[in-house]
Amino acid sequence: MSHKLGRDSFGDPANAGNLMSIEEAHALLNEWVPNERLRLHMKQVAAVMKAWAIEKENADEQTALKWELAGLLHDADWEKHPDDHCRIIIEELEKRNIDPDVIHCIASHGPNYFGVEPNNTMDKMIYAFDELSGFVHAAALIRPTRYEGLEVKSVLKRLKSPAFAAQVSREDINDAIARTDFSLEEIIQFVIDHQKDVS
Ligand SMILES: [Fe+2]
Repeated sequence: MSHKLGRDSFGDPANAGNLMSIEEAHALLNEWVPNERLRLHMKQVAAVMKAWAIEKENADEQTALKWELAGLLHDADWEKHPDDHCRIIIEELEKRNIDPDVIHCIASHGPNYFGVEPNNTMDKMIYAFDELSGFVHAAALIRPTRYEGLEVKSVLKRLKSPAFAAQVSREDINDAIARTDFSLEEIIQFVIDHQKDVS
């Protein structure tokens, strides 16, 4: 089953700056994603994206909201439309006249699946965070104290063990990290710090 989107232009440039409120995005998520675990994944990626925009990119409120929305909605269609994953949420956001940056970011969150290259920092970071967020969470869940005391080196050790969270592609993680200007260690630490309190 190919998830290739077959295009690399998304949304209408005339809609630049047109976002939805975070409440609206949560309402969409609650309606589209009954699976609580999957919703948590998106909330975690959203929290990490927002924090990165503010702390590392000096983003203003509007820009930080763009990063957060992309994180929150990137897998919104995955549960109900696994065969059309990404296409359905993109079309919905295009229908709602949402800022093309948000839509492109979602479209490029898995370049090896959707065939859309991440072309700016927001795109590159969602790819890296998407891969690592779930992995870090899995590494936390197997510990009695969960995130408390979770160290980067123990996540790195899990990455080297192919049987742990085997569905997470190590190749995609390496590919995603290589596209950023940051090390795997730095990004894992950031993910741990910013998703640990998300519920
Ligand atoms: Fe995801």
